[in-house]
Amino acid sequence: MRDDRPIGLFDSGLGGLTVVRALLDLVPGADVVYFGDTGRFPYGSKPPEEVLKYSLEIVDLLLEQNVRMVVVACNSAASVALEQLREQLDVPVVGVIGPGLRAARRATRTGRVGVIATVGTIASGAYQRAGAQLAADASDPAGAALELTCAACPGFVEFVEQGDVDSDQVHVLAERLLAPLKQAYVDTLVLGCTHYPLLARTIADVMGPDVVLVSSAEETAFEVRAELGEPDLDVPTDRPRQVKFMTSGDPTTFRELGSRFLGPEVEHVEAWSWS
Ligand code: DGL
Repeated sequence: MRDDRPIGLFDSGLGGLTVVRALLDLVPGADVVYFGDTGRFPYGSKPPEEVLKYSLEIVDLLLEQNVRMVVVACNSAASVALEQLREQLDVPVVGVIGPGLRAARRATRTGRVGVIATVGTIASGAYQRAGAQLAADASDPAGAALELTCAACPGFVEFVEQGDVDSDQVHVLAERLLAPLKQAYVDTLVLGCTHYPLLARTIADVMGPDVVLVSSAEETAFEVRAELGEPDLDVPTDRPRQVKFMTSGDPTTFRELGSRFLGPEVEHVEAWSWS
């Protein structure tokens, strides 16, 4: 039987809408509830305990919306909260870290893979752990170890938030932050932060044409699709799809900036207050 409950996603702000975009395209029959914690953004520079607390609070809120699955559409949140959420929840929990790395492993020719993310995500070691787990997965014939080079990119998120994705300043910062990855001769680079796909052009310019950029948004949507049962992939003909947005920040700003990440679907945005 078809399960019509929505899929719940959350992020520290707007960046997770890149995952919503991929999900809307890949699973056109699914209803979606998205929570952007814009009022407490950013997560990437906050201590892990604080990000974990916020993640648990948001998941409670999503469960009140009767979601059938939780997608942690934020690398900084996934890197500290994913394991605990998987242990605690009765619904499936999908993160963005595993899917991104699996896509990188398919893309790499040399095994030298770079990961760029926020300070919090890199410091958590979550990508390194996920890489080791992939290599240890004996059931996976492609389980060869990846040589990971990880680099934090403080400043990238702030530029994207300002709508600046390709100025000279962004370029200069990218040249500096991406230098260790070039020195490591990575042939594949995981954009391990939901904001970074918007900087893809600048990052690609700096890394050069031989480096494949991997965004976890599409891969995460594929993982969600794989979790769903066959009947849930059909598009219901009896009702339009429901896509609900909630934010702890200013709903008007969310609507205006949200279209940059998602497109025109961001219409009604519900305000949420943590107090
Ligand atoms: N959504 C966050 C991530 O993917 C980026 C922004 C932040 O620092 O909160 O890591």
